[in-house]
Amino acid sequence: MKVLIIGSGAREYSIGLALKKDKNCSCIYFAPGNGATPALGENVALANLYDLAKFALDNKIDLTIVGCEEPLSNGIVNIFRQLNLTIFGPTQAAAMLEASKAFMKNFLAKYAIPTAKYIETNSLEKAEAFINTLNPPIVVKADGLCGGKGVVIARNLKDAKLAAEEMLSGTAFGTAGKRVVIEEFLDGYELSVFAITDGTDFITLPICQDHKRLLTGDLGPNTGGMGAYCPTPLVNKTLLDKIKTKIIRATINGMRSEGTPFEGVLFCGVMVVNGEPFVLEFNVRFGDPECESLMPLIKTSVVDLFYKAATNRLKEIDIGYHVKFAAGVMVASAGYPTKVTPPQPITIEPGAERSDAHISYAGVTMKDGTLYASGGRVLACVGLGSTLLNAVENAYDLVKKVHFEGMQYRNDIAYQAVKR
Ligand SMILES: Nc1ncnc2c1ncn2[C@@H]1O[C@H](COP(=O)(O)OP(=O)(O)O)[C@@H](O)[C@H]1O
Ligand SMILES: [Mg+2]
Repeated sequence: MKVLIIGSGAREYSIGLALKKDKNCSCIYFAPGNGATPALGENVALANLYDLAKFALDNKIDLTIVGCEEPLSNGIVNIFRQLNLTIFGPTQAAAMLEASKAFMKNFLAKYAIPTAKYIETNSLEKAEAFINTLNPPIVVKADGLCGGKGVVIARNLKDAKLAAEEMLSGTAFGTAGKRVVIEEFLDGYELSVFAITDGTDFITLPICQDHKRLLTGDLGPNTGGMGAYCPTPLVNKTLLDKIKTKIIRATINGMRSEGTPFEGVLFCGVMVVNGEPFVLEFNVRFGDPECESLMPLIKTSVVDLFYKAATNRLKEIDIGYHVKFAAGVMVASAGYPTKVTPPQPITIEPGAERSDAHISYAGVTMKDGTLYASGGRVLACVGLGSTLLNAVENAYDLVKKVHFEGMQYRNDIAYQAVKR
């Protein structure tokens, strides 16, 4: 099968890495890819959705996999399907679950899917009135896509009102903040739950935990994610059953009833409070960094899994896993997440990558045969192991063999699950 992967991060690299080892995959293209993806396939410098569709037609692409959210909410799946191209991902209407937090919360309310008490509004007056009914901390969210930066957890009523005002006036996030969701704070622990679905059936992948804060000890600003691991021991069968029935099944059925079946990766951001799962948000694609840890665990052909999901035949898949844990440590450039710093050459000690430790690349460029860290999140060091501790240690052994000026990473990935 010839496959086109849309995106340029470590997430898309890790899908490419899984496909490279997959006997069902003969050829991989990345659009646009990054400085390291040419080791796995061919980079295609296209971004326009119609140009991508033309490329897929001209090159007889059998399956397109969309890694990132923007093309999905801009309707890439609708465009490809009109041309009878097979693509794995939700339609524009179904991608609203991520593109609008107001849409998502109203959907959850309509189908009685557990989530934090909220209002969604474009009126500052209504926002303030609701804020007055809540006990701090108070959560204020911009409605639209903000690249993971649109949420404020306010410590008092005054800060919550200020956040709502800055969003609604357009100063904080432009049009993405012209509507806000105000919600109660849920005090618990978070899980990243991924369901592969063809709109009817679904398969839940091993449950992950992500680490959003920049610094060890959950300190510093929020980021796109500084590391993840799976499967997490923080889920037992009772909790998993609740997540599957009350959240995933209810969402898939609800989206069908709305006439907008959800196909692709349903990523549920879940907060567990006293053993009960609540939806914080949905994303409509894999998480980055979670994907980097999930991909190497899957024993089943990943191409076949995504292809069957994209062609409404998920039932035919009997998913298997390597009996292993995975942990990924993100390594970022100096200045991340606020500043972009000049490119720095990367050196990796010989023999650093092994069968139980490998790199998924993100913010890198290749120049004259040298790989440069080009800002943002640069690469993920992924460790595999028969125990979680083993996986975490393998990931950190690899981190120590990667060098570039100003590199930053957390020392405590998986701290809620293992002591090092
Ligand atoms: N109701 C809530 N209670 C407690 N924490 C929350 C709540 N909503 C969001 N958060 C925190 O804020 C983070 C970002 O919120 P989320 O809804 O996932 O938006 P996004 O990923 O688009 O920034 C979550 O991962 C969680 O840590
Ligand atoms: Mg989130």
